[in-house]
Amino acid sequence: MKTLALALLAPLIVAGASAPAHSQGTDAAPGARLFQQRCGTCHQLATTRNGVGPHLQGVVGRPAGSVEGFKYSPALKASGVTWTPETLETFLANPGTMVRGTRMTQRFNNADERRAIIEFLGSR
Ligand code: HEC
Repeated sequence: MKTLALALLAPLIVAGASAPAHSQGTDAAPGARLFQQRCGTCHQLATTRNGVGPHLQGVVGRPAGSVEGFKYSPALKASGVTWTPETLETFLANPGTMVRGTRMTQRFNNADERRAIIEFLGSR
């Protein structure tokens, strides 16, 4: 009986043990996955390449509009904002309200997702 139970459980244990292997590396954090999904088409984090938007490496603590070679909107350049978890939270919830005239127009309505993404950005 004991052997049977083990035989039944073994595949489950193996499946459970192999699951984290799939999500190793940066994917392990929920914020990493969310960043890829919500921001990754326009923003790079692993490299300092600019895309549709400026790269976001070291963005927490960075003055807005300060990446060399990225063509910002005049509005964002002149905003006087420094990116902190708090200003990022306000910006992501509604970029256009915080910085009228910014070229980033997409709002992110899910507060949990915003928090996870901002946490992830702060860890980079
Ligand atoms: C459809 C493209 C697009 C998506 C998706 C997008 N952004 Fe942006 N983002 C931009 C653009 C374009 C700018 C530059 C805005 C400007 O110059 O006014 C920008 C600017 C920013 C800035 C200011 C950077 C700086 O150097 O001052 C931050 C911070 C930012 N985005 C964070 C995010 C995050 C976090 C996400 C995902 C939740 C995201 N963005 C999703 C296009 C995008």
